[in-house]
Amino acid sequence: MKGIIFTEFLEMVEITFSPAVADQIIEQNELDSNGVYTSVGNYNKQELLKLVTSLSGIVNIPIDVLVKEYGKYLLKRFLVYYPQFFEELTTTFDFLCTIDRHVHVEVEKLYTDVELPSFQTKRLSDTQMRMIYHSSNPLLYLLKG
Ligand code: HEM
Repeated sequence: MKGIIFTEFLEMVEITFSPAVADQIIEQNELDSNGVYTSVGNYNKQELLKLVTSLSGIVNIPIDVLVKEYGKYLLKRFLVYYPQFFEELTTTFDFLCTIDRHVHVEVEKLYTDVELPSFQTKRLSDTQMRMIYHSSNPLLYLLKG
């Protein structure tokens, strides 16, 4: 999994809780990376699950809630890093429809070693959309965020 997913996660933990909590979740786990991540590096996705599990224990918030909050946080950060993916779109539904056929396709061109989910989207009405998500990762709540 790309390092940006880890660096942003630890930054969110520092901002939302504290730098001490971020250190604690690293220290509680045996990590091949030793908790040192660069945004362009590639790391074992299990490390993210270990970090979030530790965080859940320390702050007493369920894992799903934390992962969903992280999804919200990450999207705001992607808006800063990749504004081009948000340009010329007026609605959230329009944006969500571009992930599978544009955004993640571009991400895959940039990095060959990513493991991205796939989405099928169908607009049902102005207020309803169906999105089918396939992934080998247990990150449904990231998607929900
Ligand atoms: C500008 C917008 C976006 C960018 C640049 C982006 C990029 C990425 C990157 C780099 C990863 C990590 C893949 C890896 O390391 O293996 C990822 C994973 C993921 N992305 Fe996106 N993404 C964007 C928007 C979205 C949106 C809007 C959704 C959901 C509606 C989404 C759903 C996911 C999920 C669920 C994963 C975790 C991997 C999995 O479940 O298999 N992404 N994305």
